[in-house]
Amino acid sequence: MKNNDDKFKKIIAHSKEYGFIFQSSEIYDGLSAVYDYAQNGVELKKNIKEYWWKAMVQMNENIVGIDTAIFMHPTVWKASGHLGAFNDPMVDNKDSKKRYRADVLVEDFMAKIEGKINKDIAKAKKRFGDEFNEEEFRATNGRIKERQAKIDQISKTLYSSMESEELGKIKTLIEDLGITCPLSGSKNWTDVRQFNLMFSTQIGSVSDESNEIYLRPETAQGIFVNYLNVQKTGRMKIPFGIAQIGKAFRNEIVARQFIFRMREFEQMEMQFFVRPGEELKWFEYWKEQRINWHKSLGISEDNYRFHDHEKLAHYANAASDIEFNFPMGFKELEGIHSRTDFDLTAHQEYSGKKLQYFDPELGKSYVPYVVETSIGLDRMFLSILTTSYTEEKLDDGSERLVMKFPPILAPIKAAILPLTKKDGLPEKAREIMADLKQDYICQYDEKDAIGKRYRRQDAIGTPYCITIDHQSLEDNTVTIRDRDTMQQERVAIKDIYTIIRNKLSLKM
Ligand code: GAP
Repeated sequence: MKNNDDKFKKIIAHSKEYGFIFQSSEIYDGLSAVYDYAQNGVELKKNIKEYWWKAMVQMNENIVGIDTAIFMHPTVWKASGHLGAFNDPMVDNKDSKKRYRADVLVEDFMAKIEGKINKDIAKAKKRFGDEFNEEEFRATNGRIKERQAKIDQISKTLYSSMESEELGKIKTLIEDLGITCPLSGSKNWTDVRQFNLMFSTQIGSVSDESNEIYLRPETAQGIFVNYLNVQKTGRMKIPFGIAQIGKAFRNEIVARQFIFRMREFEQMEMQFFVRPGEELKWFEYWKEQRINWHKSLGISEDNYRFHDHEKLAHYANAASDIEFNFPMGFKELEGIHSRTDFDLTAHQEYSGKKLQYFDPELGKSYVPYVVETSIGLDRMFLSILTTSYTEEKLDDGSERLVMKFPPILAPIKAAILPLTKKDGLPEKAREIMADLKQDYICQYDEKDAIGKRYRRQDAIGTPYCITIDHQSLEDNTVTIRDRDTMQQERVAIKDIYTIIRNKLSLKM
């Protein structure tokens, strides 16, 4: 755990030092849970978006994309249920005036007990060596059994109280466990209250309640309210999908773990409209498609797992998360939800407009069912950042830090490096740069020794370094260095473009 914490801290520091992510408004001491994407971050983010868009829209003839506004008619959020039920339970500490999510306070308490269990297990492992059987130890060790029973009891009380919205019971649980405020150390808590996560603002010049509108907390609703427009104008036949990438806003009470949980973030969502009764078949289909998309990036498959929901939201009849092994453990990266006809039926009711589809094959109209795939772009960014971060010990005893991004996502695709600043090498290098930069983001660098320049490119994850040396002037060849193997291959200058294109082509 400690090692992972340290690694996470190093990744956050690296993100800043090498221009991936900056804290928003840093010169004013930052704004909590809001981040800016810097010069390399923005390229990586753009490449992730493109990789998703190609897989969802370009490769599927029955999926189209849209881009809807962040502001929507306020009734949208009544119909979707966000105004009534998009809440987190919160509690304030009266002494520090700090606000917490009540369930997270209790979860942190359970995590501490879990930490003690893990410590005992680690000690026993050390003592018994190869003989050690963790399962047996957990089942027989008195202290561990007692602690596990406590966790189970707390978790049962917490989740049943959340489910039944008995906020008083959560407050009692916090008091009974003696949970203190991490800032003030006091147990002086307010009652637990529901806190709506939507940001609101006023539209127009008059500030009264009737002008209140919201920043969308998910992009999906922009798709739902446009589904019939797209179906008709695109002559789409069910099953078909609508995809969108865009900003979403949530006033998260617990906003921490870097870009994992932000107040302003981006989602990549796709709603797939199907015949009623066929939704579970399509749910399985999209689960498989989406996990394959993640695997196609070549990241170790052990990093992904499904978490099927047992407790379903009121609108869903199946839901599963793709979890990723982040430095803080396995956490939700993407959700695949079978949302039934809940949203479209609600919009039909609230708007008074028919949102039915006429199915020519069945000869009847119905409100389609929806299977949704929803991934946080920033979380995807974080997953790529954390798996790519590699500290390597080299054969000569030196160390290097390399971001092993999948080449197709790397911010800078190639670095063009003249070995020296003279003898016509920069001119030759500039010709190569001029050719490649029309299609790829490249970096030209002639400063410092070549080894130092390679390290700089490793640190931002550039997959290919093209070095122009004196031999280049004689025979029009250069070397291409592979970031991961550090092997250099000599190739003809006239072939560089094709070589790079083949390495980065989706088709290849
Ligand atoms: N339309 C369905 C929906 O919004 P969700 O599970 O609330 O479902 C979908 O969110 C995805 O959006 C999550 O899997 C996560 O990747 C991302 N996400 C949600 N809240 C986030 C936050 N505060 N910061 C960053 N990403 C977030």
